[in-house]
Amino acid sequence: MSSSFPELRKKPLYDAECARFYVADCLKLLAELPDESIDLIFADPPYNLSNDGITCKAGKMVSVNKGKWDKSKGFEEDYQFTREWIAACRRVLKPTGSIWISGTLHNIFLVGHALQSEGYKILNDITWYKPNAPPNLSCRYFAHAHETVLWARKSAKSRHKFNYKLMKEMNGGRQMRSLWTIPLTPASEKQFGKHPTQKPIELLYRIIAATSDKDDLVLDPFLGSGTTAVVAKMLNRRVIGIDLSRDFLKLAVKRYEATAPGPISLVRPQRSTKPSSRRKDERQEMLDFIEELEKLKRA
Ligand SMILES: C[S@@+](CC[C@H](N)C(=O)[O-])C[C@H]1O[C@@H](n2cnc3c(N)ncnc32)[C@H](O)[C@@H]1O
Repeated sequence: MSSSFPELRKKPLYDAECARFYVADCLKLLAELPDESIDLIFADPPYNLSNDGITCKAGKMVSVNKGKWDKSKGFEEDYQFTREWIAACRRVLKPTGSIWISGTLHNIFLVGHALQSEGYKILNDITWYKPNAPPNLSCRYFAHAHETVLWARKSAKSRHKFNYKLMKEMNGGRQMRSLWTIPLTPASEKQFGKHPTQKPIELLYRIIAATSDKDDLVLDPFLGSGTTAVVAKMLNRRVIGIDLSRDFLKLAVKRYEATAPGPISLVRPQRSTKPSSRRKDERQEMLDFIEELEKLKRA
């Protein structure tokens, strides 16, 4: 497997045969990368949703805040930052490359606007549906049960990679659609430590397998706990990861080193769809929720 990487002035925190992780602001590191050097980008940027509200996690009421890095700086500043890193990514992307960006209502429209303003062509808006999403505690909104992942190529005229047949195979011989049902990140993927917004391997597996080939160079400008790198290793891709946080990258290194190269089976136990058991799950969720509210009133 080819293991060459662009030589940068910045020293990586982690330098392995097929992976380099940098503690840096992605704007600074992106500026060092050569033009058209990257085959695929996956970006899971701050969603700017840490607004001191509450949410429900494992049946418990918890703060929605993920960290300082996820606080909104106001619409104009958030948009400016989004526009800058999206433009920087376009410069380093090969003409055959593409970019995936995840988000929720808090950031995804700003991302879509920035992508189009910078000259990309949006190819799909994937809905990642989370069948085990928590209930909404305020009861003033529909429960948020999905994220959007935008997929775009460099321009209207450029040609992007798409492993169509592989996706069809992975979907049991039927054309894969834009609604992906994938549960929340399982506890088994958090054995080395926790990141507040860790993405499931299954989501990244689909993305990287669909839109890159063996030996390709994948870039993640917001690597966090390293899910993109873990999947890149499984699929024999090279990877460059960037994150502001040294601690998150240390977690990414642990996960990367514990990963064995080679494809994985993504067969997972399906939640029963029998109406009676589904009703039972929903009833239990509601009971847990009411109990939490009662506790809050007593506190
Ligand atoms: C949504 S999380 C990514 C989670 C990751 N996909 C995973 O599976 O663990 C976003 C990450 O971006 C990092 N971050 C925020 N601003 C950044 C910046 N300007 N440059 C680089 N990393 C940044 C945060 O430290 C955080 O780990």
